[in-house]
Amino acid sequence: MSEILLQIDGIEVKAKEGMSILEAAQSAGIYIPTLCHHEKLQPYGACRICTVEAETGGRTNLVAACVSPVQPNLVVRTRSEKVDKTRKILLEQFLAHAPDAPALQDLAQEYGADKDRFEKESSFCILCGLCVRYCAEVKKKNAVGFVDRGARREISFIPEIASKECWKCKECFPLCPTSYLQAAYHLTEALVFPSPSFEPASEG
Ligand code: FES
Repeated sequence: MSEILLQIDGIEVKAKEGMSILEAAQSAGIYIPTLCHHEKLQPYGACRICTVEAETGGRTNLVAACVSPVQPNLVVRTRSEKVDKTRKILLEQFLAHAPDAPALQDLAQEYGADKDRFEKESSFCILCGLCVRYCAEVKKKNAVGFVDRGARREISFIPEIASKECWKCKECFPLCPTSYLQAAYHLTEALVFPSPSFEPASEG
């Protein structure tokens, strides 16, 4: 595999052909924020919080670092006015779903995002897909999936599979950037495994 030389934040970085900009940056110890990326999963490109400026052949584009391959002589800027503005707006949209999520709050502080900019959404899910993809790609169980489309798209556990698999796994829980998943799981758990508190009180 041939070696590719590129520049990230003014630093010369050696990468291998086929690497993403994110992987090249991480290999050089350069931080790019991510919300939907996981090293065990196929790149997904959903959250766009990893947006960077990539300059090649005199043209500069905003690209998602996790799904954009390195190229020879590429010049990458991980922070710039445009990058920061893009991340700020994305965070404000995510914060409408999960204003109290610590992972989002930390980033919001960094990029000056206002959690009240957009009207609050009823779902805590930001559709990063980490739980869905981890369960499918790593665990090969498909116990959680996407339901609905467009603005109504959400994740949901599949009770028939979740009742058999999730109680002994729960590996997707810590992946969730908004902690929505725990709530969704517990709801399903409550429905599938009714606890005594869910049983009707006996009469007499
Ligand atoms: Fe790159 Fe989500 S981390 S799009």
